Amino acid sequence: MARDGQGLEVSNANTDAIAAVDFLNEQWLGFGNRMAEFIAAADKEENCSMLPLLAASLMLSMNSAEGFEAAGRYLGRARAMSAGANAREMAWIAATEAWIAGDIPAAQKIHEDMAMQWPRDLLSAKIGQLHAFGQGDAEGILRIGERIVPANPENHYVWGMHAFGLEECNRLDEAEAAARKAIAMERRDPWAHHAVAHCLEARGRMVDGVTLLAEMSDTWEDCNSFMYTHLWWHQALFLIDLDRTDEALGLYDARVWGVWKEFSEDQINAISLLARLELRGVDVGNRWADVATYLKPRLHEHFSPFLDLQYLYGLARAGEQSAVTEMLASLEDRAERARSFEREAWADCTVPAAHGLAAHAVGDFAGAARLLGQAVPHLKPIGGSIAQRALFGAIHLDALMRAGWNDAAMAILQADEKERPTVAWTKRALGDLYRRVGRTEQALGAEYQAGQLARQYRAAHGPTKGKAA
Ligand SMILES: [Fe+2]
Repeated sequence: MARDGQGLEVSNANTDAIAAVDFLNEQWLGFGNRMAEFIAAADKEENCSMLPLLAASLMLSMNSAEGFEAAGRYLGRARAMSAGANAREMAWIAATEAWIAGDIPAAQKIHEDMAMQWPRDLLSAKIGQLHAFGQGDAEGILRIGERIVPANPENHYVWGMHAFGLEECNRLDEAEAAARKAIAMERRDPWAHHAVAHCLEARGRMVDGVTLLAEMSDTWEDCNSFMYTHLWWHQALFLIDLDRTDEALGLYDARVWGVWKEFSEDQINAISLLARLELRGVDVGNRWADVATYLKPRLHEHFSPFLDLQYLYGLARAGEQSAVTEMLASLEDRAERARSFEREAWADCTVPAAHGLAAHAVGDFAGAARLLGQAVPHLKPIGGSIAQRALFGAIHLDALMRAGWNDAAMAILQADEKERPTVAWTKRALGDLYRRVGRTEQALGAEYQAGQLARQYRAAHGPTKGKAA
């Protein structure tokens, strides 16, 4: 039986089929922009079930109605070619069926088991990590990384995949070491750049972050739109925390929004960046309107609570009130239909969070503070990374501050300050709150520290000025 580049047996595969599987491995793990070439090969294939199976997963990962429809067709073709399929290929079929049926825990379990039995199957591992990510299951992401590293120590992609799980489990030193090991093995590994960016973000090491991403950014030109726009989104986050919001807005226009406006991942990078800029007082002009144009077809999709909440906020900030009302009703229906494994995400988090975000967008800060306060303890299962979910915490904090709920806002800011003591904005916000409640001495202290940090940023910026992009 033929074997692919990872040494895995592939049924009914000729040389072209093996080449296509190897090509997709490289493209998917490297976040390449040539996936269409694999799809063309899968469309032509008549014997090897792995090709339509992988095409189905690729389509499902798009989070779109068309993607799901196409995936069903590919799965049907794969089943028709499955005579003589081996056990690994049968597991792929079962995992794909579970994904299409929306039973994500079942799909994830199959991929986790596959990571144990066939740790060289890196596409299976990648999809398993994607499912864990989509459910906020950091430990699940890590488990898969731990299972594949021993069988693939020579593979830089695997070290990057492992690094991200470590980072999401807050094992930041190990995560950074694993990701830097990947980069030392191969500089052109965007997922490893991404893992280091998360580690630096978590620790408030913004200057290091800007420098690293600027140095690596020449390797992103062949990345797909998700990875390209998301890495620039990370760069913009560093810049925002360095008080360089003009440059962050410049990145929004030049890199983050506009690559593939119809794609869910591009859309949430744009929404999250505009929102974060506004939270720092930046006027983003009429940019919400363009994003909202692409969100309106998504009101009833509900592929992911994490995506939906961001779509809703984008529509609300664009003033698309009737779309917001329609989507809120649709989200409530979705929550009522939630299966037990997804009830916390949809019912306990998404419904109150969605109403809270809608309230924030129209200036009802007390309502937003109350509703987001209900949702925030249940945020993790909606999925996304820690850095991405932080958007909802930041909007909650903004609502608390604007509603004058000083004690609650202060507790959050003090925790933020402890975790990321290098962010001048946090000190300034604390200074404002201390003044508001008459703690003048503490206010002076916070303002002094904020000024010092701002001077440090400017000093660090001097020699590298203009190189963030
Ligand atoms: Fe990220």
